[in-house]
Amino acid sequence: MSRKYHVAIVGATGAVGIEMIRTLEKRNFPVSKLTLLASARSVGKQLSYLGQPVVVQELLDDSFAGVEIALFSAGASISRKFAPFAVQAGAVVVDNSSAFRMDADVPLVVPEVNAGDIKNHRGIIANPNCTTAITLMALNPLHQAFGVKRIFAATYQAVSGTGAQAIEELRAQVGDIVAGQAPQSKVYPHQIAFNVLPHVDSFLDTGYTREEMKMQNEGRRILHLPDFKASVTCVRVPVYRAHSVAVNAEFEKPVSVEKAREVLSLSPGLKLVDDPVNNKYPLPLRCAGHDDCEVGRIRIDCALENGLAFWVAGDQLLKGAALNAVQIAELI
Ligand SMILES: NC(=O)c1ccc[n+]([C@@H]2O[C@H](COP(=O)([O-])OP(=O)(O)OC[C@H]3O[C@@H](n4cnc5c(N)ncnc54)[C@H](OP(=O)(O)O)[C@@H]3O)[C@@H](O)[C@H]2O)c1
Repeated sequence: MSRKYHVAIVGATGAVGIEMIRTLEKRNFPVSKLTLLASARSVGKQLSYLGQPVVVQELLDDSFAGVEIALFSAGASISRKFAPFAVQAGAVVVDNSSAFRMDADVPLVVPEVNAGDIKNHRGIIANPNCTTAITLMALNPLHQAFGVKRIFAATYQAVSGTGAQAIEELRAQVGDIVAGQAPQSKVYPHQIAFNVLPHVDSFLDTGYTREEMKMQNEGRRILHLPDFKASVTCVRVPVYRAHSVAVNAEFEKPVSVEKAREVLSLSPGLKLVDDPVNNKYPLPLRCAGHDDCEVGRIRIDCALENGLAFWVAGDQLLKGAALNAVQIAELI
């Protein structure tokens, strides 16, 4: 790529925004100018890009003059309000929020799965939910081999999935408990340190949460599989970074562990770590800070027809957000 692009990051001071800056650096993205945008609270704050300070500006309607690629990660309401201004100014938006994921006009993309959908964009491309992206990194190669019908899954989601304030809450609670003091909970409804919360996102009338339904709803769009079914329980765990998912998947065709391992080992962005006898399996701690997701614990599911059980882990700030967004920008 010889041409360079004026890139803006909306939500640059957040957990995802910071990783977007690091990912642009790491992947040597051709940036001619980097505009960092956040709320009025962050105006004047300096962040570093390639060793140079970049001053954060307030996100305003007219922030996008000259911007060619705008990476949004400041929440759905901000995306809904400001992405149209970016598109109007001529930028292509890659949006990390849930704002546009189910819009028929907006491609929802995991580059390793459905890069071809990008060509249909009309100015906005959506990044999927982080747990969905990580799960599909392992599920799609198996789907290509065996044809997936439905999955049952339980997630183990890190606090950084909630953002910078949640990372701080876990840190503060651990400190308080170790010091013998009562921990304070502001971000989560219960103590997250030394606990697990079967509650991610808001509850629907069905009893599922919005986060839980994203796997089915977004999975159908990304896999181009309108009948795909996913019954998921999303759980927040006291891990700083990287989500894990226990998946039980039922397929159309007969499955084998050998074939599953073969297709997974050949998949880009995925590492097969599956030697349980020697205590080798995917670990969120090892995935943290790394681009590749890990898959392992692959076995024939003893309760499903043509079923496989597996465990997949990945850094949701990277593959579930910043890395996936920058990969999309590279494809644009
Ligand atoms: N965390 C993840 O793993 C993850 C994964 C996939 C997708 N996402 C999505 O990415 C988005 C950001 O998540 P995050 O975890 O990075 O959250 P975060 O750490 O709380 O950061 C939020 C960012 O949004 C900015 N912001 C908030 N209100 C704003 C406003 N009124 N105007 C302009 N900027 C504003 C904040 O700026 P200030 O610092 O100035 O407040 C900050 O830069 C969310 O939509 C989230 O659903 C997150």
